[in-house]
Amino acid sequence: MKILITGGAGFIGSALVRKLVQQDKHTVINIDKLTYAGNLDSLTFKNLEHKYHFHKVDICSRDEIREIFDHYRPDCIIHLAAESHVDKSIGGPENFIRTNILGTFTLLEVVRDFLNSRRKEKKDFKFLHVSTDEVYGDLTINEEPFNEEHKYAPSSPYSSSKASSDHLVRAWYRTYGLPILITNCSNNYGPFQFPEKLIPNTIISAIQGKSIPIYGNGEQIRDWLYVDDHVEALLNVLEEGTIGQTYNVGGGNEIKNIDVVNQICDLLDEFNPSNLDHRGSHKDLIDFVEDRPGHDKRYAINNSKIKRELSWTPKKNFKSGIHETVLWYLQHQNWWKRIFSGDYKSN
Ligand SMILES: NC(=O)c1ccc[n+]([C@@H]2O[C@H](COP(=O)([O-])OP(=O)(O)OC[C@H]3O[C@@H](n4cnc5c(N)ncnc54)[C@H](O)[C@@H]3O)[C@@H](O)[C@H]2O)c1
Repeated sequence: MKILITGGAGFIGSALVRKLVQQDKHTVINIDKLTYAGNLDSLTFKNLEHKYHFHKVDICSRDEIREIFDHYRPDCIIHLAAESHVDKSIGGPENFIRTNILGTFTLLEVVRDFLNSRRKEKKDFKFLHVSTDEVYGDLTINEEPFNEEHKYAPSSPYSSSKASSDHLVRAWYRTYGLPILITNCSNNYGPFQFPEKLIPNTIISAIQGKSIPIYGNGEQIRDWLYVDDHVEALLNVLEEGTIGQTYNVGGGNEIKNIDVVNQICDLLDEFNPSNLDHRGSHKDLIDFVEDRPGHDKRYAINNSKIKRELSWTPKKNFKSGIHETVLWYLQHQNWWKRIFSGDYKSN
């Protein structure tokens, strides 16, 4: 297949691109605007004939996207490009509205035109829209995990822009018959995640001996999934999913933020003891800061549909996944140091 990926220089997109290029079965076309979150250091290969092509393109640029579709004639699109950081969306929501809503609208319209002109040739085309469990809002401790029928109740500008994009994608299926699939996934972690997010920020701050900020009392619960398990789920949905359907993806690892941070500190106490100086533990660096406005209390995913219908199951539990992730950030300091120095932008 010729697989067009948007946002393939980001955290999850780059894991997907690396996996597909390694598999050597498909041609991958990666389009990414390279915002601050896009990092070509995460993709060590350059353009490879018949295998991998990169284009620096904004998904809101309809003409450029159309040219790429006409040139490559892809068999499917996996749409990950987004502004993805909740804190940034609170400070400045405009880019979130533009990329997450207008960008998705632009892609839907380009695909609609493309399929109208190539209906016979592209009868098996698929549009896989990658979304988040944050569209459902949050849960109290006693509520059942989100299933695919849960009502939408997003809290932040980020999650509401993703919710809007999900609605557009469903509407293009209902109204125009676009062959779409949607996934709503819980919090991902793993190698190559931008330092702004909780897990890499904690690891990197602790390695540097800097304070580790935790919002509020740290009691918020997230359902963590190792990024490669998410990639597997996306490929399962692409290959086996039923057109028009939504699949919730989650790791079944509900953990409080404070416990995530404590586990990371324990691992660094073991792997990086020379960093401790006069401290007893990296936990001494923890700093409880004012809570994020509208902070969701608990996310939890009911992943029984994707398990039952597509035989997907997460391979990595949190204990082994976080162990590998902490080691990765310790062993790949150059990757994140180039982000802090800005050098990653020169790639
Ligand atoms: N990270 C998570 O825990 C998580 C969980 C569930 C769903 N998701 C969804 O998965 C997708 C990828 O998330 P991520 O964590 O890899 O994000 P990320 O921020 O690491 O990467 C986003 C990528 O999109 C690119 N991009 C942004 N605006 C663009 C535009 N206008 N045109 C083209 N490219 C643009 C960026 O350059 C970057 O490479 C997002 O849609 C996100 O909503 C993420």
